[in-house]
Amino acid sequence: MARKIMIAGNWKMNGLLEDGVALAKGVAAEVKKMGKPECEFLVCPPFTLLTSVKKALRGAKVALGAQDCHFTEKGAHTGDISPVMLKDAGCQYVITGHSERRADHGESNELICKKSQAAYDAGLKVIICIGETLAERDAGKTIDVCSAQILGSVPETATSSNTVIAYEPVWAIGTGKTPTAKDVEDVHAAVRKVLAKKLGKGNANKMRILYGGSVKPANAKEFLSLPDVDGALIGGASLKVEDFINIAKNAGCC
Ligand code: PGA
Repeated sequence: MARKIMIAGNWKMNGLLEDGVALAKGVAAEVKKMGKPECEFLVCPPFTLLTSVKKALRGAKVALGAQDCHFTEKGAHTGDISPVMLKDAGCQYVITGHSERRADHGESNELICKKSQAAYDAGLKVIICIGETLAERDAGKTIDVCSAQILGSVPETATSSNTVIAYEPVWAIGTGKTPTAKDVEDVHAAVRKVLAKKLGKGNANKMRILYGGSVKPANAKEFLSLPDVDGALIGGASLKVEDFINIAKNAGCC
């Protein structure tokens, strides 16, 4: 089953105009040098940089994504951004359900499901994030938690064309700690099984499941060569052109 590897950068709440544009230009230049890369590239800057990063990426095979969206199209929701606005700003993707949003903003599976559906309705593809906390892992609940998150936050209308799943153990994000390759493969295989039950085997076999959590150039090959790992969602290391590109190179993108 050929699933195209995705190398996605989640810039989080980082970047002002000058350094954000420089980062995007640096990534664009490196991806252009690859000619026809084997992977799909994506960067997800903060909202304030979307339109300028879009310009900086011109002519490069790098998609643009946002890090969150509201679940309605427009209206009285001060401070929120709708998926239609993201599409208008040039986004192809939006991340939903990142653990930092689940934790900082109390986002539930139900809300994440609504946001994801609204994003599809606006013509966006969605990266839906799941992952267990350290306490859940220590209690042996990793697969149960991830399965419940898939069942609750992935819309019934999800397909392999409009959705990418990102498995990100909360305790591995930004900590330098990572699960073993076997743990990652076990979770990804279990997630694919749940997706098959929910969306059918065809969608599940074609849907990409990314790993995220302290992905670096040094561990990219180990994770990205696992059978059920179809790419990486990269936080810290996506803020440096060299690290982001070396992750892609080590994953065999060019
Ligand atoms: P990290 O973040 O690569 O800095 O661990 C990953 C993420 O939260 O998407």
